[in-house]
Parts: sequence; structure tokens; C-alpha cells
Amino acid sequence: MPPPPTKRASTRITCAPHTAPILRAELEALGWGREGTEFQEEHPTYLQVGATLEQAMELALRLRTATHVMWQLARFRCPSPKALYTEVAAYPWEDLIRPPSGPDSYITIRAHADTPTIDNQMYPALVVKDAICDRMVKKTGARPDAGPDRRGVVLSLYWKDDRAALFLNINAHSLANRGYRHLPHTAPMRETLAAAVLLAAGYDGSTPLVNPMCGSGTLAIEAALIATARAPGLLRPDYAITKTNWDVDDLWQSVRARVKKTGGTPGSADIPPIIATDHDPAALHAAKKNAQAAGVDHLIRFIECDFRQTPIPSEPGHIILNPEYGERMGDAADLEPTYAAIGDFFKQKCPGWTGHVFTGSPHLAKHIGLKPARKRPFMNATIECRLLTFNLYKGTKSSPVADGGGGTAKR
Ligand SMILES: C[S@@+](CC[C@H](N)C(=O)[O-])C[C@H]1O[C@@H](n2cnc3c(N)ncnc32)[C@H](O)[C@@H]1O
Repeated sequence: MPPPPTKRASTRITCAPHTAPILRAELEALGWGREGTEFQEEHPTYLQVGATLEQAMELALRLRTATHVMWQLARFRCPSPKALYTEVAAYPWEDLIRPPSGPDSYITIRAHADTPTIDNQMYPALVVKDAICDRMVKKTGARPDAGPDRRGVVLSLYWKDDRAALFLNINAHSLANRGYRHLPHTAPMRETLAAAVLLAAGYDGSTPLVNPMCGSGTLAIEAALIATARAPGLLRPDYAITKTNWDVDDLWQSVRARVKKTGGTPGSADIPPIIATDHDPAALHAAKKNAQAAGVDHLIRFIECDFRQTPIPSEPGHIILNPEYGERMGDAADLEPTYAAIGDFFKQKCPGWTGHVFTGSPHLAKHIGLKPARKRPFMNATIECRLLTFNLYKGTKSSPVADGGGGTAKR
């Protein structure tokens, strides 16, 4: 097996729309974006840095809001499909892809082309596959299997005008699949979205977190991972980098060991409280099972109750709700009283806290009856959502009082 390359290469880290600033902040906290580690490209759905393969592996394990981490194999001028074939066929695929005679010799190719010669997105992927397979036949006498399964080497082609770049995916499936969600329950948040929402809310694990309407527990579980500085990627098994023909096993294990060391394994007494409640016992069951799978169940206090009965710790922190918004569950008109009750709950029970509501319904959001201090856009699958943040002052903003309910009253 050939050793893995040690050079630095452009590394593209993708994320969901609207979350690039949060991903950027994560990268900065890990030391990226300074002299020598500058961002090479910034785009609404990706950031690019120059990284070694080892650093790219570490990013795939550590980043909470990234969807894919991809390490650039080649970049070339590409005025036509013929040029694409020639350039791809020149790469030493026999080093990277396992010999077709053995298991795991499988490639998945994703192509994104924005160039005048291409009007069918399937075509460039086919050209790349043919170029790779023809070279493998020439060098090894057989062709690897190819398909959409992401169970071997995963490649992404980005072709813009007359420039193309070919990336090797470090992960196989999206990094949103952390591996802990065994029971999704209903309308669960994607794990990367939950992490992005928490980080955008300002949660860093140093203050309590309360999550009424917790559903399958994604926000509370991601909060526990943040509070204990645990890398979310350690929980999932499938990384395409381990399916290459490069001799990466020792490197991969040493990166994992290093990443594991920085995450703590404290008990619940060592971090500020994380409380997750829901009135549906099936939701609570799913949340507990998922938290167990993530190894954080001992850090979260689960309570079956109506959201209004959620206990609020005396030391203030963040309270985050993701109520139904009538898109996939519930009916919007039926939900109006629930949103009004959230506003009342904030005012009466949470003075001094920062309240957040994640919703896809601007109409229902108005029924909260409080003026948000901030509105941040997110995409939940195809639905445009907002994270509304409320500073729940004691008294009013202009005349705060030491005790007693309040909020930024609007109604
Ligand atoms: C959209 S889901 C939350 C999904 C969650 N963020 C996740 O990732 O799984 C909304 C949850 O609110 C709960 N819920 C609705 N009304 C409630 C109420 N009055 N009190 C407590 N929970 C409630 C539902 O049972 C459901 O689990």
C-alpha cells in the first residue's frame, strides 16, 4: 500500500446555507484563518483552507457544522469533456483505489458543473468514471465497481467555466449523520443544524441550557457534546478515507486518539445543567436512547412534562424551543395558542435568560408576542427557518428590575 501524501492541498469544507459564518467561527476557534492558515475561498456553502491530509481528517472529526470535508487531489484547466477525460486519466488512481481483484474497490463520483459545454450534470461524472476505470484497467487489468453507495472512495468534481478541481471526500455520508440517532421520532433536526443553532444562539457550555419540546433530543445531545468539548465525528463509523488504498490506518488512528484526548468525559456535576423536556413519552424515550448512543445521557436531565412545567435553574442561561410549525406536523392555526403560550412562559418563568425559538413560520412567530432581539436565517431541509432570539430582561429593557418577570413586551 502506498503511503498517504504529506503535502498541503486545498481542503473544501461544505456546510448548509446560512451556516458558513458559524463554520468560519468554528474553524477560527481551531486556529484556522491566521497567517499561514488563511481561508483560501469563502462561499455561502463552503470554506476552503490549505491543509494536509492529516489536518483534513482532524477537521472531519472535530467540526460540528460541516457537511463534508474534501481534500483536493488535482486542479486543472478544463475547457471540454475531452480535456476532463485526459486530465483525470493522468492521475495515479491505481495508488488511491484498492485493486479491483479485492473487496472495497468501489468508487462514487459526484459532479457539479457550471460550464457552457455541459447541460447534463450526469455527464461529467460519467467522463470521470470512464477515465478512472480505463486507467485502472490499463494499470491493474480490471476495473473497480462504481455507483452511488459511498462505500469506497468518494470523489467530488467541481467544474466552473474552464477550471476544474477533483476532491477526495474524507467522510462518506454527510457529517450530519453522527451515528447516535437510532430513534428519529418526528420531525427531528439534522444534527449539524442543531449544532449550528446552538452556536448561533451563543451556547458554549458555560451556562445552563434548557430545551423544552426536545423531541428526539438533538439540541440537548449536541449541547452536551459542546459542553464536554467532545468531537462529534468520533461517534460515527463511516469515513471514506479509510477505504482508500493509501496506507492511512496508523495516521487515522493517531488523529482519532489526539482528537479524543481534547474532549472531556466529565459527570453531570462538572457542567452547567442541561434539561430536556417533552410531553410525549415516545419523544422522551427516543431522546434518552439517542443520548445513550452518544454517551451523554448522564449529562442531560430528561423530564416528561408540558413545556410550561419545565424547571428553570436559578443561574440563567439559554432556553431553546423548536416547536412544530405546521409544515410537517400540526396545523398552523392550531399552533397559534402554543406560540402565544411560549411568549407567556418566557415572560413569566425565564427573566434574565436568553430565549430562542427555531421556527419555519413567520406567521406563528408573531404569536409569541415578544420582539426578537435577533432573527437568524437557517434552512431546515428545504424550509426557510429563523432562529428568533429574545433577551428576557428582568422588568423591561429600559427599566430593568432586580427580580420579577419581564421581556421585550410587544403585545
Ligand atoms: C418539531 S419537534 C422537536 C424536534 C427536535 N428539535 C428534534 O431534533 O427531534 C416538536 C416537539 O414538541 C413537542 N411538544 C409539542 N407541544 C408540546 C407541549 N405543549 N409541551 C411539551 N412538548 C410539546 C412534541 O411532542 C415534539 O416532540
